[in-house]
Amino acid sequence: MIADHEFGGQHTELKLSIVEGYLKAFTTALRPHFKNLWYIDAFAGSGTRTVRTERQGATLIEKPVEEVIERRRGSAQIALDVRPEFDFVVFIEKNPNYVSALEDLRAKNLQRKIVVAEEDANSALKQLVANNSWDDKRAVVFLDPYGMEVGWTTLQALAATKAIDVWFLFPLAGLFRQATRKLTDIDEHKRAALTRMFGSESWEEELYPEVGDPDMFGMLPERRRNLNPAGLERYVRSRLSEIFGAVLKPLALPIDRGPQMFSLFLCISNPAPEAIGLATRIGDHLLNPKRHLIVRPATK
Ligand SMILES: C[S@@+](CC[C@H](N)C(=O)[O-])C[C@H]1O[C@@H](n2cnc3c(N)ncnc32)[C@H](O)[C@@H]1O
Repeated sequence: MIADHEFGGQHTELKLSIVEGYLKAFTTALRPHFKNLWYIDAFAGSGTRTVRTERQGATLIEKPVEEVIERRRGSAQIALDVRPEFDFVVFIEKNPNYVSALEDLRAKNLQRKIVVAEEDANSALKQLVANNSWDDKRAVVFLDPYGMEVGWTTLQALAATKAIDVWFLFPLAGLFRQATRKLTDIDEHKRAALTRMFGSESWEEELYPEVGDPDMFGMLPERRRNLNPAGLERYVRSRLSEIFGAVLKPLALPIDRGPQMFSLFLCISNPAPEAIGLATRIGDHLLNPKRHLIVRPATK
């Protein structure tokens, strides 16, 4: 079955090529040392994605361009194509149509060890972490949600394995929207989402300092968020660094235009200096924005 899964733009292409680069480097570097290399795609999608290039009318100097619809590889297919191969691959997805496309992908690769789980990413990841020993394996988990679905307790469980590198497409625009300027504008729904994302209510103190002194009637000063998107990104990185061995400077996406929608993080759970050193060498290279800057031809 072909499930039509249309999402993202150029930043999707870039995100997937960065993760693919890491997966190849990961299995190449660790294959001689580990018999158990796992890939876990927690928001796996359908294995393919549909890219639509819009029709453009003719201009005085250019011919019209017809609409093009292409089918490209999604993260699940990309992971299966990685060589040296992963020994075990887990796809977690909650949309039944995409799950059935992933089942087709599994059926085409019966020689591989692949599990497709139609489940919620947070509970499935926690179960997977709890039901396995991690001393003899190394894994990469890809967290590629649409929004703020990843809970803090899931990240804590992944970090505690000390064996998993986590690629996390963090929804910075989602955070910016939920964490409104004034603390008093945050309703119960937003408050619960932020607490689930950061694991406690400490974000209230940390993101909303008091501005000024109490007034003459003893009214407490207003509490406002002063951080801009770059500041919020630094805050998220510092929070993640509390639980992971290392968290690299993320890549802001999209790269070629504002506003920033996502921060692509690599979080390394193994605190051993050799593990951090290896992942940092590969990850910093892939996440360097200068590598991805698009040089456009100057227009006259
Ligand atoms: C941005 S897409 C992932 C795309 C995929 N990485 C790819 O490259 O093809 C996000 C996916 O997460 C799924 N999803 C959303 N919430 C989920 C949850 N709580 N648990 C599992 N999957 C979820 C959606 O159905 C969607 O397929």
